[in-house]
Amino acid sequence: MKKVARISVNLKERSYDIFIGFNQLRSLGNFIKKLDLGNHAVIITNPKIKKLYQSKITPGLKKNNNQTTYIEIPDSEKSKSLNCLKSAIGKIVKIDIKTRLFIIALGGGVVGDLGGFIAAVYKRGIPYIQIPTSLLAQVDSSIGGKVAVDLPQGKNLLGAFYQPKMVFCDSSFLQTLNLRQLKTGLAEVIKYGIIADKQLFEFLENNYHKVFKLEKDALNYIINQSAAIKARVVSEDERETKGIRTILNYGHTIGHAIEAACGYEADYTHGEAISIGMVCAAEIAHHLNLCSLKTLGRIESMISIAGLPIHIKNVPLAKIMKTYLHDKKFIRGKNRFVLPTNIGKVEVHENIPENLIKKVVSERIKNK
Ligand code: GLY
Repeated sequence: MKKVARISVNLKERSYDIFIGFNQLRSLGNFIKKLDLGNHAVIITNPKIKKLYQSKITPGLKKNNNQTTYIEIPDSEKSKSLNCLKSAIGKIVKIDIKTRLFIIALGGGVVGDLGGFIAAVYKRGIPYIQIPTSLLAQVDSSIGGKVAVDLPQGKNLLGAFYQPKMVFCDSSFLQTLNLRQLKTGLAEVIKYGIIADKQLFEFLENNYHKVFKLEKDALNYIINQSAAIKARVVSEDERETKGIRTILNYGHTIGHAIEAACGYEADYTHGEAISIGMVCAAEIAHHLNLCSLKTLGRIESMISIAGLPIHIKNVPLAKIMKTYLHDKKFIRGKNRFVLPTNIGKVEVHENIPENLIKKVVSERIKNK
């Protein structure tokens, strides 16, 4: 078997490859060389990740005649800010003399979003690559080209569609994640199983312990399957104009409402919030006779055995419903939900009765 698997995102002149391997960081320089992106890599990362991987990345790039400059941003959602953007661009301008710059976003979702946004806007766009270091970023946020920073008024308000030139996933990075970060990524993997890949879901049901033990083959399998689904969906609907990308929002309508109701504090990680959202959406589907009790039960127990929440704690119903009403998934005043009909199959439904949503969410609130 090849050491590095390749999945393509097919978008004509904006096409790129996702490479997935285990302990392959030393070969990064060769992959970058083939792309001919420039001669100076500006690596946006956070201090912890830089300490872990600088010594593996820099020599490979140097060998291929690339200079490197590391720009560190704090390891926090707050780094997706105009301040960090301004400060990073200030540093980039200083080194941008007689060189061809490109950006490497080395980190999780925050670094990927900020690094990609800098690449999109600096001089009207310079090339960038994504090296995602968290499971969530490897299976989701590094692929697809949505890049953004937050404004005080809301998340991702300043953004662009700007595709990377490559995504390089090294599953050995996951060895340095804490369990909660691993689980938050696993929630997205479970999502892929439910929306499009029955085999992936069954693999997780039978092998979740191998994922928790960080077994190489299990990690590579779940990253490959997930990234392939994301790549296929993005290839078919890059800008979310055809309704195909919508299926990626399974669990996100109520999930986002829970996150927003908590003010995006640490109460719920993204994966935890969408886990509850996925169970709620499955319950709504069951109430509407779209999915069987057995399917609902499988979804609920998969999420539960992955150590993810299926109940809401300490968030009032009124707060969730208020933030839910502000959700962007309302199209012309109608709500829109991605509902599972079976494992591996979903349908998009609009105008779900509000009473039903309220009933399902309120039954999930357990304060003890
Ligand atoms: N950057 C994540 C996406 O495009 O979906």
